[in-house]
Amino acid sequence: MPEILVVDDDVDICRMLEKKLQRSGHQPSLANTLADGLIKAEGGAFDVILLDVQMPDGNGLEFIPRFKALQSNPEIIIFTGHGDLDGADKAIKSGAWGYIEKANVIKELDLPLTRALEYREEKRRSKISPVYLKREKIIGHSKKINACFDKLAKAAASEANVLISGETGTGKELFARAIHENSSRFAKNIVTVDCASLPESLIESTLFGHSRGAFTGADRSQDGLVKHADGGTLFLDEVGELPLAMQKAFLRVLQEHKFRPVGSSQEQTSDFRVVAATNRNLEECVKAGTFRSDLFYRLQSLTIHLPPLRERKEDMLELVVHSITRLCARTNVDLKGVSPDFIEALTSYDWPGNVRELFQTLEQVFANGKHTRILFPHHLPEKIRISHAHDALKSADDLPVKERFLPEPTGILPDWRQAKETFEGEYIRKLMVRAQGDIREACSLSGISKARLYQLLGKYEQIPSRPAKWQSN
Ligand SMILES: Nc1ncnc2c1ncn2[C@@H]1O[C@H](COP(=O)(O)OP(=O)(O)OP(=O)(O)O)[C@@H](O)[C@H]1O
Ligand SMILES: [Mg+2]
Repeated sequence: MPEILVVDDDVDICRMLEKKLQRSGHQPSLANTLADGLIKAEGGAFDVILLDVQMPDGNGLEFIPRFKALQSNPEIIIFTGHGDLDGADKAIKSGAWGYIEKANVIKELDLPLTRALEYREEKRRSKISPVYLKREKIIGHSKKINACFDKLAKAAASEANVLISGETGTGKELFARAIHENSSRFAKNIVTVDCASLPESLIESTLFGHSRGAFTGADRSQDGLVKHADGGTLFLDEVGELPLAMQKAFLRVLQEHKFRPVGSSQEQTSDFRVVAATNRNLEECVKAGTFRSDLFYRLQSLTIHLPPLRERKEDMLELVVHSITRLCARTNVDLKGVSPDFIEALTSYDWPGNVRELFQTLEQVFANGKHTRILFPHHLPEKIRISHAHDALKSADDLPVKERFLPEPTGILPDWRQAKETFEGEYIRKLMVRAQGDIREACSLSGISKARLYQLLGKYEQIPSRPAKWQSN
């Protein structure tokens, strides 16, 4: 049976709570001071602590971290004074599960307490059963993305609301779908609410549905998105764009899972789990007054922040191989290779559009390099080649000036013309071997024009006659 501790100096409230909890089958412990509360909490293994703020020996909010640090890591529900939003915010930021106005504690305790206990139960279960994550569509093994996979596994195993944040193109939708697919709700719908493009006038009926005759043209009743998500997942995409007026209505749906279709007097229920995504900083939106703080706290029981691609460049090669393999399969051509400096050039660029921009770029590159077997940096768009060149200059700049011009420590330094010719001759020979004597392929591989290639072939006595002439060693 779950263990509950009530910490409140008001003896009457303690007694009422005790009775109420006993009626629901619990056997709560009581403490009338914070000091006594801490001693009792340390001696037990509490699941939930109901904590008053104004206590004779201190402020309950300041004790939240100490209660949370206990081995049982209890969920804390705070009693706040009337309209004390600051206190409520502080409580949530300190790790409290939720808050109830003290005057309504008997009336309003059931819902947050039930949810907190359900959450504990889920947590317990997810620890027992190993999690096998289906992640085949999500590419990457960097430390940062692996940390996100750990959170994905936790989110999939729980029923808590999840908030996924990250720049555009980092894979928020991909993660939201993976949470659903790996959750116990996978057999039911995942319903996407695109909060950025909900038509203002139809917003309520789109979400909650409408009854017949609710408005002109409503010739039959229709379910909304919230009902479609019954038993499954409601994915609130771009949740930061939800109009303020709708945020309040949504909060109620999230808390109670009840709603009323437009034009209907009957309430309906829907058992959905919420996953929300945003590329905005919702905390800033709360400060700016464009996003309700209570909705924000409600949404972020679990959070996953997806790192931008520039912070996980170790994944570049895997992402590129995945994309090229897919493109080759789609267009039915032999698998293409990439040169090491192709990857280097991609890595030097910052990718403001993240994986989406990378995949789009590779699609373009693939179309441009249709006839080549290997993709080289010169197949890439100019802006990426420029960033690569800048990077090369920067790393040379990082060396002290003296070191940049130091001769090789051993060996004779050939003169420039001689060094260039040695390199050119060797390059042309290797190029023709790689292109198997095919002039068009050699031009495409190297970026050298046809006329210039013939000139160089003549100069280095590599006149193309039969492909067999280009032998590798
Ligand atoms: N780790 C990844 N592995 C494979 N594909 C990925 C990965 N991350 C993103 N993508 C791909 O990049 C594209 C964008 O991903 P997604 O739509 O999930 O991004 P988003 O974060 O929701 O972006 P936005 O904020 O613009 O809506 C999709 O084609 C997706 O498949
Ligand atoms: Mg998206």
